[in-house]
Amino acid sequence: MSKRNWIYGRNVVLTGCSTGMGKEVLMILVKKYGCNVMGVARNKAKLDELKAELGDKFSYRRFNISSQEEWRAFAKELEDMGFMTDILINNAGMIQPFGAFDNLDDAMLDKIINTNLMSVIYGCQAMIPTIKKSQFGGIVNVASASAILPFGGQSIYSATKGGVWGFTNALAQELRGYGVSVTCVMPGPVKTDLYKARDGESGNKADSLVESVGITAQTAAKRIVRAMRYRKIRCVTDFVAHAMSLGMKVMPASTVKMAGGIMKTASKKLMPSFAPIYKDQFDNADMLKERIKSRKANTYNQLSDVPPTGPFGEDMGK
Ligand SMILES: NC(=O)c1ccc[n+]([C@@H]2O[C@H](COP(=O)([O-])OP(=O)(O)OC[C@H]3O[C@@H](n4cnc5c(N)ncnc54)[C@H](OP(=O)(O)O)[C@@H]3O)[C@@H](O)[C@H]2O)c1
Repeated sequence: MSKRNWIYGRNVVLTGCSTGMGKEVLMILVKKYGCNVMGVARNKAKLDELKAELGDKFSYRRFNISSQEEWRAFAKELEDMGFMTDILINNAGMIQPFGAFDNLDDAMLDKIINTNLMSVIYGCQAMIPTIKKSQFGGIVNVASASAILPFGGQSIYSATKGGVWGFTNALAQELRGYGVSVTCVMPGPVKTDLYKARDGESGNKADSLVESVGITAQTAAKRIVRAMRYRKIRCVTDFVAHAMSLGMKVMPASTVKMAGGIMKTASKKLMPSFAPIYKDQFDNADMLKERIKSRKANTYNQLSDVPPTGPFGEDMGK
């Protein structure tokens, strides 16, 4: 089989197919490559629209990808109906509500980790036994450029995507012997609904920076399918993600600081959704200056300079 056309006519499981990049990947796989796609998402109206457009080549199941039981039941159902999965694309994901890490409640923390990271692990766990039997299978996990350069205000999102990146690279090594290609996708900004309000959680306004520098979902999807077709381990989809990657290679510490500075400045006009993260920093600028002054006054050069006081200011004597 030619390496160039190995995806023609394959059986594909694709999560997050109802909107954004997943929907565009679905279109390419069905219309250009004649794949049989089993989509996974929750929005019935959108899935029905896609079914009406794509016909027999597309089926869907609605379930929450965060659930290991649901993944297991789904894999069993596919096996029972004789749908032998060749390719798994773990694309579905969510961002966290924009804001500081210490403002995230436990339920939200679990939700982000389960949706972005555990779902990918559960999906692979459920589908790999079948994919290993495929003649020439593939797994594509969609991480993010924030796995390369994380952003404040998206700390847990970045952590989950870093987890996807690590997991995917390890899988790439484990599955080589089975002829299964494993690809990790690292998109920068892509113009989808991801940044807009989801379930009323984020309440974000459109960010003109994302709108102006982001690539379209169609372009991202073309690049994802291309990487899959050429069985690449890593797919960096756009210029912004490449720039982030280069910065982290050449001067990692400065790039992290610079990213914070850029986001802080941009949060004023171009990235209103990031504004809540940096509001405190603007509001507390004077207090911060005072703290820096006091830190300088309380910085000691050697042990004998440290005053003999305890953590609560009590006199510890000499
Ligand atoms: N857009 C960007 O700038 C960007 C950048 C870097 C990485 N990414 C990553 O790219 C992937 C796709 O993002 P996108 O921008 O295309 O987002 P999107 O337009 O918001 O689409 C997300 C998809 O995931 C599905 N989904 C979310 N949570 C789910 C759950 N618990 N169970 C089942 N399905 C679920 C949604 O379907 P339903 O609503 O129907 O359930 C939807 O189809 C995500 O992993 C995202 O983190 C995006």
